[in-house]
Amino acid sequence: MKGVVLHGGAGTRLRPLTFSGPKQLIPVANKPVSQYVIEDLRDSGIKDIAVVLGETFPELVRDYYGDGSWLGVRITYVYQGRPLGIAHAVSLCRDFVGNDDFVVYLGDNLLQEGISGFLKEFVGGGYDAYILLKEVDDPRRFGVAELDSSGGLVDFVEKPEVPPSNYALVGVYFFKPVVFDIIKGLKPSWRGELEITDALRLMLKGGYRVGYGVVRGWWLDTGKKDDILYANSVILDERAKRVLKGEIINSRVEGRVMIEEGSKVINSVVRGPAVIGSGALIKDSFIGPYTSIGKDAEVINSSVEYSIVLEGASIKGVERLDESLIGRRAKVMRNSERRVVRLNVGDYSTIEI
Ligand code: TTP
Repeated sequence: MKGVVLHGGAGTRLRPLTFSGPKQLIPVANKPVSQYVIEDLRDSGIKDIAVVLGETFPELVRDYYGDGSWLGVRITYVYQGRPLGIAHAVSLCRDFVGNDDFVVYLGDNLLQEGISGFLKEFVGGGYDAYILLKEVDDPRRFGVAELDSSGGLVDFVEKPEVPPSNYALVGVYFFKPVVFDIIKGLKPSWRGELEITDALRLMLKGGYRVGYGVVRGWWLDTGKKDDILYANSVILDERAKRVLKGEIINSRVEGRVMIEEGSKVINSVVRGPAVIGSGALIKDSFIGPYTSIGKDAEVINSSVEYSIVLEGASIKGVERLDESLIGRRAKVMRNSERRVVRLNVGDYSTIEI
């Protein structure tokens, strides 16, 4: 069994952060989203992993993961470049996969219970393809499965206006190598992509065994800012532990807070769940629940809550920063003149004043 992690895509909904790196490297609880994916594969016993790279700074992905040995896996890089579709990305992995079964895992998807239970179902059930479905409130944003009255798969539709069910396709797909022959027969969709839902439909119509499992725990698709912040809150809620390794001076640290080595918390209150990265400085400030402060960031004379502050960013004199995603080495500060706002903002940024 091999793994394929999709690390490409345009990430337009996460601009401007995706101008300087792929969205899957954006950290939640100070760890890139795709690292949770690779760790889930590893913990399910899958050590041979292809990471499919897009055109947005693919070297950052190579630099971060290397050969994967530090995570206990073997990584092979496959270059996709332009996002020509999930099925296109999969088709590039034919040599890597060989005659093995494999699982495709979108690098921006997080699953509470991981994939190991579903992997057993796929292997034990003798399926050619096995997908995961999750019941959602608004299926129109997703690929959706049509089911018959006894729960059998009938069809798949991409982002339907009138959804045939509430079951969205989660970004994890198990396949036998026969899928490569199916993908060869695909034509680009109206959006110019080779769609994985089209491949699944062809398999279904062609009499291949396509099975599914239903995800009961949470499933997070971190494609937009609000999704990233929500994922950060959920991961912190479930996984943050009280570990205080940094220097804490004249401060109160409440609940499950991870204060990493080399960081300093001075005259401040930190209320968990939260994480303060190594080398960060928190001074005369309040860090509220569901906040991740990145490596070497500084928060001075400010209050930050339900936010992600990335590496090296600086927040100074800001009374209440809430629901915010602050990019690497960005600066947010109060000026001394009242009623004047001075901005130097990157393309596609959003500022709410
Ligand atoms: P999407 O989130 O659907 O696409 P995107 O990354 O282009 O985002 P946006 O709509 O904001 O522009 O992609 C789902 C996942 O699959 C994501 O992890 C990126 C990955 N992907 C590829 O690796 N190659 C591709 O060709 C496509 C379409 C997606």
